[in-house]
Amino acid sequence: MSQSYYDLACDKDFWIRLNPDLHIEGVNAKNAWTPANFSKEMLENFKKDMVQDGYFVSEPVLEQNEMAKLADAVKLLALEQWPTIFAMVYDEFWQLYQRAGSVLNHILGSNYRQLPNFWVYHVAPDHGGSGWAPHRDRAQTITIRKDGMPNSMTIWIALNDATLWNGCMYVLPARRDPNYPHRPGTFELEFKDLQSIRALPAKAGSILSWNESLIHWGSKSSDKAIGPRVSAACAFQRADIDPLETPILDPYVLPSFKTRLGIIGQQLFRFAVHTGMPEAVQTLAQELGKLSETIQVYDEKHPYQGVKAGKLKVAK
Ligand SMILES: [Fe+2]
Repeated sequence: MSQSYYDLACDKDFWIRLNPDLHIEGVNAKNAWTPANFSKEMLENFKKDMVQDGYFVSEPVLEQNEMAKLADAVKLLALEQWPTIFAMVYDEFWQLYQRAGSVLNHILGSNYRQLPNFWVYHVAPDHGGSGWAPHRDRAQTITIRKDGMPNSMTIWIALNDATLWNGCMYVLPARRDPNYPHRPGTFELEFKDLQSIRALPAKAGSILSWNESLIHWGSKSSDKAIGPRVSAACAFQRADIDPLETPILDPYVLPSFKTRLGIIGQQLFRFAVHTGMPEAVQTLAQELGKLSETIQVYDEKHPYQGVKAGKLKVAK
């Protein structure tokens, strides 16, 4: 009798057979990679960019061979028709964000926390491939402090080159956004905003970040794309404010395999508005979601309904 999707998902060996170079609860896996080495000046520039425009973009600072390994793992999941967020079963995808520790620490302060709010993206390399529609990551709460610094931010890492052709990220810089930061529930773009939109092509290993109040989106791929756009993103918050979501995580303690599966199951529901959800995935996600504490999003009335996709209203 063949195994069900649920049985396969819960089978550590299944995932390791699929990607033998990666680990799940690997004994020696913690801190296996070198963190991105940013100078004091670079960190200050990132902070300045975050305050002025709500985002920053780094050079490709993470090891190319490691990025290629992770990108290949995501491509394989897509090929096998697993939602690519299942890459988060592997230690290496959690450790990825530890590489951004210095900049997270610089902007969010010490003991910053990881939120159960992440995705792994695979934008198909053809006319049909698309990133997520325009949105703010936290549309119900003002997340910007009086000094312009954020309470929370998203780290987005390019696992391969994100180009204009394969669906790179775009933002509406904070300085150009009349609703930033006090009206996060408004994210419709006007015709006059079009000139302000900024494309963020990024080489593999680049760390991008925006605060959770910034309007951003993944663009659509094109038939000029050489391959899929592959990236991973996760949200983080300051330690000295109330949790925006629970279970809140220590970024340097990897959750158990079971907890990872539970959070993945719940994320599938939460972000179905962006990704769609075939019936088979819905059944799987429901069962997996029971394996961990239920995610609570304290700024929203309906956990799992999460971020609402924006409508790009182009009005003349
Ligand atoms: Fe987002």
